[in-house]
Amino acid sequence: MHILVTGGTGYIGSHTTVELLNQGYQVTIVDNLYNSSIKVLDRIERLTGKRPQFYQTDILDLLSLENVFKENNFDAVIHFAGYKAVGESVSIPITYYQNNIAGSLNLYQLMAKYNVDNIVFSSSATVYGDNFQVPFKEEYGSGDTTNPYGTTKKFNEIILTDIAKANSKLSCVLLRYFNPIGAHPSGLLGEVPNGIPNNLVPYIAKVASGELEYLRVFGDDYDTIDGTGVRDYIHVVDLAKAHLKAIEYTVKHRGIEVINVGSGFGYSVLEILHAYEKACQKPLPYKIVARRPGDIATCYADTAKAKKLLGFECELGIDEMCRDSYNFTKMNPDGIE
Ligand code: NAD
Ligand code: UD1
Repeated sequence: MHILVTGGTGYIGSHTTVELLNQGYQVTIVDNLYNSSIKVLDRIERLTGKRPQFYQTDILDLLSLENVFKENNFDAVIHFAGYKAVGESVSIPITYYQNNIAGSLNLYQLMAKYNVDNIVFSSSATVYGDNFQVPFKEEYGSGDTTNPYGTTKKFNEIILTDIAKANSKLSCVLLRYFNPIGAHPSGLLGEVPNGIPNNLVPYIAKVASGELEYLRVFGDDYDTIDGTGVRDYIHVVDLAKAHLKAIEYTVKHRGIEVINVGSGFGYSVLEILHAYEKACQKPLPYKIVARRPGDIATCYADTAKAKKLLGFECELGIDEMCRDSYNFTKMNPDGIE
């Protein structure tokens, strides 16, 4: 099977490509390298012995993207390409709607034209917003989003649902990721945040490496185990494997399914910090500061549907997530360059 992976040199896309190649899938990556390095291809080759076909193409460039479809015969698409920084999306919403909506529409249009009927889309637990009780269940639908990034995910879910209604051959899995962290255990692939990280584990990694002085813990007065925010963290290699299961599912079914991908467990900020201290074997300084606007107290997944439909369950725990994140940080002090 030949899979088109948009955003395949990025954090989740590169790990997924490794798993696909290891399972014998043929992979073509389309990425404009806005948030990733061409060197990721060398790393993928070192890990798998195979080099995926690569197009440095912007999905906003319809003509170039069409050439990719003309030159290949894809069986399925995994669509990762997009912008993902929540805070940035609030400042430059047009850019986010342009890239994440208009870019996606180009892709969906070409899939229809070239009869590619299977797609796995990267959605996010952010579409639940602050509207529901945990654990978040797919049947809740989606709530009011709190930022343009989240809205682009919600809109893509709606657009793909409408396309599935119009095209009975379409098979689509909307994967709602919870909080992917960690890195490939080899230390060759991982997340390289741009500038000062907004997300918890990339920030802690920089405290562990000495680049940042201390972690700011955003609030300790939530109604949680220790007052700090609780999230459902998933190892990026587990998340990558969920995509293989989702691809297998799309080729055997028609229609559209929303599926959570998380561990089903919630850890607090301080629990993560202490797990990371264990991984790097040193205390990590932190200060409690005010709550971050827009944050919710607790977020974790109901994982029953992923287990039932995909046969997917996480294998790696919080210790492996912190170990692999720290290992990647140590091995790549300047990122993947
Ligand atoms: P990433 O930034 O590492 O990867 C995205 C890739 O897409 C990058 O390599 C970037 O260069 C590429 N890209 C962006 N715009 C493009 C365009 N117009 N044309 C071609 N390529 C383009 O992000 P990631 O963490 O790997 O996330 C992958 C997907 O999963 C995104 O859609 C993201 O919104 C979604 N997601 C991520 C998380 C997370 O915590 N990482 C959580 C939920 C959902
Ligand atoms: C963020 C995004 C969300 C996205 C998700 C997965 C925001 C507001 N939301 O959510 O849309 O789907 O990542 O990528 O950015 N924390 C600190 N100090 C820090 C950083 C974080 O205490 O320096 C706390 C947060 O308050 C939260 C927890 O750590 O309780 C996790 O934060 P983060 O990694 O940013 O993820 P989310 O808030 O779940």
